[in-house]
Amino acid sequence: MSSFFALDPIEKSSVDELRALQLKRLRSTLRHAYDNSPVYRQKFDQAGVHPDDCRSLADLALFPMTTKADLRDHYPFGLFAVPREKLVRVHASSGTTGKPTVVGYTQNDIDTWAQVVARSIRAAGARPGDMVHVSYGYGLFTGGLGAHYGAEKLGLTVVPFGGGQTERQVQLIQDFRPDIIMVTPSYMLAIADEFQRLGIDPASSSLRIGIFGAEPWTNDMRRAIEQRMGLTAVDIYGLSEVIGPGVASECAETQDGPTIWEDHFYPEIIHPETGQPVPDGEMGELVFTSLTKEAMPIIRYRTRDLTRLLPGTARTMRRMEKITGRSDDMMIVRGVNVFPSQIEEYILRRAELAPHYQCVLTREGPLDHLTVRVETQAGLAPDSATARQAAAQLQHDVKVFVGTSIQVELLAEGGVERSMGKAKRVVDMRPR
Ligand code: DLL
Repeated sequence: MSSFFALDPIEKSSVDELRALQLKRLRSTLRHAYDNSPVYRQKFDQAGVHPDDCRSLADLALFPMTTKADLRDHYPFGLFAVPREKLVRVHASSGTTGKPTVVGYTQNDIDTWAQVVARSIRAAGARPGDMVHVSYGYGLFTGGLGAHYGAEKLGLTVVPFGGGQTERQVQLIQDFRPDIIMVTPSYMLAIADEFQRLGIDPASSSLRIGIFGAEPWTNDMRRAIEQRMGLTAVDIYGLSEVIGPGVASECAETQDGPTIWEDHFYPEIIHPETGQPVPDGEMGELVFTSLTKEAMPIIRYRTRDLTRLLPGTARTMRRMEKITGRSDDMMIVRGVNVFPSQIEEYILRRAELAPHYQCVLTREGPLDHLTVRVETQAGLAPDSATARQAAAQLQHDVKVFVGTSIQVELLAEGGVERSMGKAKRVVDMRPR
């Protein structure tokens, strides 16, 4: 069998071997951060901890957390633990307010990143000779270049398309016949619509595998995309502060939540309010510590993503449950916590509705209102009795199963703004 299919030995090692490697790498990361990043040194000193205090993986809980505010406060390069000249790349995420978050990579970091993305693409079921169409944005966003380097590392043919120009995306997919597409799930749907607009059945395309991430998407959405595109859809997770895409990724044979590449990124789940670690299996906020990064070691970074840790299945490493929400996206409507993914689930159960939607929050007097703007399927008029019936059913399902009252605003095809990257699911119009 060719070495293409051979997993990195650690992917199938014993748990003990993995834990030993993690502890060794954790201790050296803590030391590196303390010795070379004044910001971490100050944070550790203030918390009264020293890298030598870490004798077991559980001791990580003694160390202070890092948040987005730490990156912002030391904008642009303050968190780096190597001289700026050692960086071969920077990326940045725009963020909704204020300054972008800047991250940096040494050559070794770029190699590590390519390796974990290559692992992710292989776990998705790639075969030697496959062609990969990358529709994640290139540039400061980590999606495009992250996917690109991983696919190249695996020796695959990369088509570096990036986001946008949807009609040309379809044309090149038809002409080049790629096997794999890497794109946000919401933009995949826009590409699928474009196929249909051009009179082509998207399921007839050459695509066999979709590696989707960068935003929350439900298992119902997975099934809808798989059916429509005729491919196997897996979930890739990551964030720029930790490295980019490829922190965790799903194995095609199980499709049971992303496997965390734990030999490079150590996960914890904490209670979002108390900050205390919770046991595996319990829901909470995902926190990551990098184990091999040089330029910007990250210690106990609070992702704001909500999930739980699950035992390994296809690999030794633990999995995370597919993320269906991040705390920033949580809407509190008259005291009830609601995530867009919960609405998505019920939209996808109605054949009359298209999976393009947005949640709009407004306030009338003291009360918050949630309006779900959703498109009807192509060809179905939003004011038809069938469409109105579907809207009423959606309203009923959300009331009964999610526990909140919503208004449903039906729009014709194209009525909900398409994004070429991450979809904007929540529009908050409440006065501040
Ligand atoms: O979105 C990196 C990435 C690119 C991941 C391409 C996967 C594919 P950021 O822009 O820093 O990085 O955004 C990170 O996006 O904290 C999550 O809230 C969300 N996110 C990323 N992947 C997933 C996923 C990239 N598979 C933030 N499911 C993260 C749910 C995801 N949310």
